[in-house]
Amino acid sequence: MEIFERLEDRSAVVCVVGVGYVGLPLAEAFSKHLRVIGYDMNGSKIEELNNKNNNSNLIFTSDPAKINKADFVLIAVPTPITESKEPDLFCVRSSMDTVGRNLKKGAIVVLESTVYPGVTEEIAMSVLDKSSGMKCGVDFKVGYSPERINPGDEVHGISNITKIVSGMDEETTEVLVKLYNLITTVFKAKDIRTAEAAKVIENIQRDLNIALINELALIFERMNIDIMDVIEAAATKWNFNVYYPGAGVGGHCLPVDPYYLVKKAEDLGYHSKVITAGRAVNDYMPMHVFKLLVDALNECERAVKGSKVVVLGFSYKENVG
Ligand SMILES: NC(=O)c1ccc[n+]([C@@H]2O[C@H](COP(=O)([O-])OP(=O)(O)OC[C@H]3O[C@@H](n4cnc5c(N)ncnc54)[C@H](O)[C@@H]3O)[C@@H](O)[C@H]2O)c1
Repeated sequence: MEIFERLEDRSAVVCVVGVGYVGLPLAEAFSKHLRVIGYDMNGSKIEELNNKNNNSNLIFTSDPAKINKADFVLIAVPTPITESKEPDLFCVRSSMDTVGRNLKKGAIVVLESTVYPGVTEEIAMSVLDKSSGMKCGVDFKVGYSPERINPGDEVHGISNITKIVSGMDEETTEVLVKLYNLITTVFKAKDIRTAEAAKVIENIQRDLNIALINELALIFERMNIDIMDVIEAAATKWNFNVYYPGAGVGGHCLPVDPYYLVKKAEDLGYHSKVITAGRAVNDYMPMHVFKLLVDALNECERAVKGSKVVVLGFSYKENVG
């Protein structure tokens, strides 16, 4: 495979599509080994990045024609939810459309965004086929490698987070393993769907663990038992997993990603019970904190109207935002 040799002699070019929170550090990491193009549709972001860029291996552009120079196109665009809490794949579709229109024959396109199992093979592949006028599997290949970067985490960064890697066939997987091995350790997933599923359940598990401790906090509050004291006592058991209650679950991922799997399950005739219950508990927490505030004001014989409220700790987790 020609692309394998270009990786060996370091002449391969990587294009990262979407140089946001995830894409930018990814582009920077690859630029230590290969030439990298950071493409984003947001022109002012590109201008800002170019103004402070002094890395000769990395260029930023909002010109989609530059994608044609790349052997590897890594896509890290947002995957939000709609108002009705359903997956919004607009950015995935539109970025795939742009990539397809500008794709070099023989390139490998890798989706990095968090999605439900099936998005790469059922949606990305067909958009790419259509917009490129080429045939996936023959003229170009696809893969999926989820991003696991953790905002505010100074211990876990790109170089020491194991990257799950999957390709549409054995040969593609092997090339991608070689590519991502340049920047970190790699776990070869069985296939693309497995890799997509692994990422989404990491966040679902975390969301549910937080929901459980939030629910326990609501129960113990009614019993005048301090949940923090309970956790401290319970944590003395070797297999108790420590999570703390909070004012809700924020950030880009946890309040969003579970709905991706929930919708896919729904389409397949399974109505999620546990995942949606967890989401409901976590979504309720800000309202609960508000009720506590109203109660506290009542205690001091103060009206909500006209009261000044100071929020201490205004981000969804420590050292973020
Ligand atoms: N932020 C995190 O902590 C985190 C962690 C792990 C995974 N993820 C996942 O990574 C993905 C990207 O998230 P992010 O936080 O980096 O988003 P972001 O909003 O910070 O960056 C996305 C970038 O994509 C660009 N973009 C959107 N549509 C485009 C298109 N059609 N063509 C070119 N560029 C386009 C935007 O302009 C933006 O600069 C999401 O699926 C997210 O769930 C995020």
